[in-house]
Amino acid sequence: MHTFEELSAQFSEKFKTDHFPQEPASLYEPNRYFLGMGGKRVRPVLCLMANELFDEIVPDAWNVATAIELFHNFTLIHDDIMDQAPLRRGLETVHQKYGISTALLAGDVMLVAAYEYLNKVSTQHIVRIMRLFNKTAREVCEGQQLDMDFEKKNGVDFDAYLNMINLKTSVLLASSLQMGALLGGTGVRNQQIIYEFGRKIGLAFQVQDDFLDAFGNPEKFGKLVGGDIKSNKKTFLLIHALQVASEGQKKRLKELYTSTSEHKVEEVLSIFKDCKVDEWAKALKEKYMQEAFQHLDDIAVVSKRKEPLKELALYLLQRES
Ligand code: IPE
Ligand code: IPE
Ligand code: MG
Ligand code: MG
Ligand code: MG
Repeated sequence: MHTFEELSAQFSEKFKTDHFPQEPASLYEPNRYFLGMGGKRVRPVLCLMANELFDEIVPDAWNVATAIELFHNFTLIHDDIMDQAPLRRGLETVHQKYGISTALLAGDVMLVAAYEYLNKVSTQHIVRIMRLFNKTAREVCEGQQLDMDFEKKNGVDFDAYLNMINLKTSVLLASSLQMGALLGGTGVRNQQIIYEFGRKIGLAFQVQDDFLDAFGNPEKFGKLVGGDIKSNKKTFLLIHALQVASEGQKKRLKELYTSTSEHKVEEVLSIFKDCKVDEWAKALKEKYMQEAFQHLDDIAVVSKRKEPLKELALYLLQRES
């Protein structure tokens, strides 16, 4: 068994190999730039840990883990275009540095690279892995489109928000675990439970991400703080504030979300603070974490083997970046 630290280090080292040819550099250099910016690499490590939960890590798990991290990076490059985000991992985003057309294509070719790694999976597993991977990839696209649709939509409620973050964020964490578990040879029941564990971790993680987007420390967050407010994202912060704010504050919030006032972020944050969204965020995150850990307990494996997964979940949900 490996600890979280050991697996992270091993994956990061392997992942450093060049995934792209040299030419045309105008296409591949942006991808090298982006992958070189780091990132926490949590999804591939989840896959490897889920694999090791049931047996020794198999070669297929490394290929799937690599495919997952490439896929994740592809979604981030395109997400930053869609969100018009200037910063990621503390550095300029790909489209900011190289232009939108290049960023689109760099993302596309990163997705192709992900499938090249999937294609290496042994015949015994490839069909089921591909099916789960494709289902997940399609769901992430659906979540991303809902996120964009919601920018222009009023009256997005909590359930709609939950469905959206489940798709855009949770399912990838969940299926990273399920793919690892599947390759570890465990049955469908354990696969389903570990998927649910990942899904709840994902919900808690996105709640935290939305919170940090509004209240994070700009030095540590690595992304533009206030970005979600600027793009009128329907985050749970706004949904909750609209539920508990006074009539005057509600009216002002609605006005602010259709304005381009230079004080927009500041004013919205001050209403959020009045509505105590921080306490609510903490409680919500806690609820999903508890549910996640319950699922982890339910997996039919001796609890000692689950420790690295617990450690990773705790690390992920205490992050400031
Ligand atoms: C960012 O994911 C996208 C969200 C789901 C919030 P991560 O926070 O895992 O991004 P990196 O890979 O560590 O930069
Ligand atoms: C992330 O949503 C979802 C995907 C990239 C698929 P966000 O738009 O909140 O992610 P960040 O905050 O830019 O990392
Ligand atoms: Mg974004
Ligand atoms: Mg987004
Ligand atoms: Mg975000």
